[in-house]
Amino acid sequence: MLKKDMPIGVLDSGVGGLSVLKCLRTMLPAEDFIYLGDTARTPYGPRKEEEVRAFVEQMLCFFDEKRVKLVVIACNTLTVLGVETLKKEHKFDIVGMSKGAELVLAASKEKKIGVFATEFTIGTGAHKDAILAIDPTACVAPIACPKFVPLIEGEKFASTELAEAVTEYTDKLKAAGADTLILSCTHYPFIRKEIENALGNDVNIIDPAEETAREAIKVLAANGFAKTQGQGSTTICFTADLDRGIRLAKHMLPDTENVFKLVNLK
Ligand code: DGL
Repeated sequence: MLKKDMPIGVLDSGVGGLSVLKCLRTMLPAEDFIYLGDTARTPYGPRKEEEVRAFVEQMLCFFDEKRVKLVVIACNTLTVLGVETLKKEHKFDIVGMSKGAELVLAASKEKKIGVFATEFTIGTGAHKDAILAIDPTACVAPIACPKFVPLIEGEKFASTELAEAVTEYTDKLKAAGADTLILSCTHYPFIRKEIENALGNDVNIIDPAEETAREAIKVLAANGFAKTQGQGSTTICFTADLDRGIRLAKHMLPDTENVFKLVNLK
């Protein structure tokens, strides 16, 4: 049986989901979190659907063993597989990343919206469809950014390669004339500053992490599982390169106490 004092699982292909964990921790300070980043097999973006489905099922089985009450899929590439298709026999509820369609439409004056995401996410057309379902007159420019995740996972923050990749993708966005951009890959908030600097003040940047955390809060409240008393804890697990994971976690969550673990997925 699911109970209030059980932890919440948060998963991603690597360190990207830490940007969502940051938001969840701020909004749910009493909850205990277990984060799982599959740093051994990141990136998922260039992979085939069958493969990523097998990986996410392994991660969900990990959370079965950890006896969590809810899993937040802090990964757009996995969310676009269809969260309902991932549920299977797992007892916990699953919340995926918000597509942020209402947020971007509210932020965009000209209704010209760019989507930055992995090639897998862009290939599904999920974000474009969600925006057009609300406003069919909107103009959506989906832009795959395959160079970003390996550079972020590789800690290449101050590199020429990153600067060039940012120029390449932001130039495409400028050419599309977008006034609003949604970061539909949870890794991209790690380089939000670089993207912002390249775009200047004319483009609103939207991160759907907060909206996703709000959805998680709704699900917890609906089930009566929200923990509101005490100070929560966070355990961060990676499937490879623990030291690199710790450095990247400190980058995203500089002021928090975490327990770090290296784990194997079956
Ligand atoms: N952070 C992920 C996302 O939101 C996946 C990145 C990847 O593994 O390619 O899509």
